[in-house]
Amino acid sequence: MPVQISPSILSADFARLADECAAVAGTADWLHVDVMDNHFVPNLTLGLPVVESLLKAVSTPIDCHLMIEDPDRWAPAYAEAGAGSVTIHVEAAKAPIRTLRTIRAAGARAGLGVNPATPVEAFEDLLPELDMLLLMTVEPGFGGQRFLDVVLPKVRRARELIDKHGGSVWLQVDGGVSAETIERAAEAGADVFVAGNAVYGAQDPAQAVRNLRAQAEGAR
Ligand code: DX5
Ligand code: ZN
Repeated sequence: MPVQISPSILSADFARLADECAAVAGTADWLHVDVMDNHFVPNLTLGLPVVESLLKAVSTPIDCHLMIEDPDRWAPAYAEAGAGSVTIHVEAAKAPIRTLRTIRAAGARAGLGVNPATPVEAFEDLLPELDMLLLMTVEPGFGGQRFLDVVLPKVRRARELIDKHGGSVWLQVDGGVSAETIERAAEAGADVFVAGNAVYGAQDPAQAVRNLRAQAEGAR
């Protein structure tokens, strides 16, 4: 799988969301949308109405990261609305297999998110149900945090598990990914990189995406 870059609009200017998304159109592979409910994580962001509006306003596929309680109830609507990828958290889902299958049946890629302290091995048998495994490289809830190097061995182990199962599942890292850290994550086996501050904190977000992609490709 070639390197893919998914800028997180959590670090964008929410009053100018369509313009901020347009700034990386044609350069980014995805737009990463962090849905937070102030229960699963201690922060509140946006939800389905905003995602529906973005889907009308932008051409880049949308990568929804649901940091919410009860994703079993809410995730299918994001897929039905037209998100290209919908990720639920394993710590929150009560029926992850059913929900992942519902996401796929609605035409989206199904993702499973794993927090820094959650082991990945327990989910090996779920890999056939997944299109993407998201390994958090910060504690979820906020942009602009420091990349947790302690997660890198888990990225390596996840890469081995995915390769053992045919290698078709994408391996996403999310949190603190920047020019300083993306090479370590790529070397460990990640192929989809979420970057918030490193893209939207840059003078030229599109150039930041190109630079991150070049670094990740060079490290693999
Ligand atoms: C954190 C979010 C991330 C965040 C990444 O809970 O899931 O997607 O926006 O932002 P940076 O790249 O600034 O860490
Ligand atoms: Zn995210």
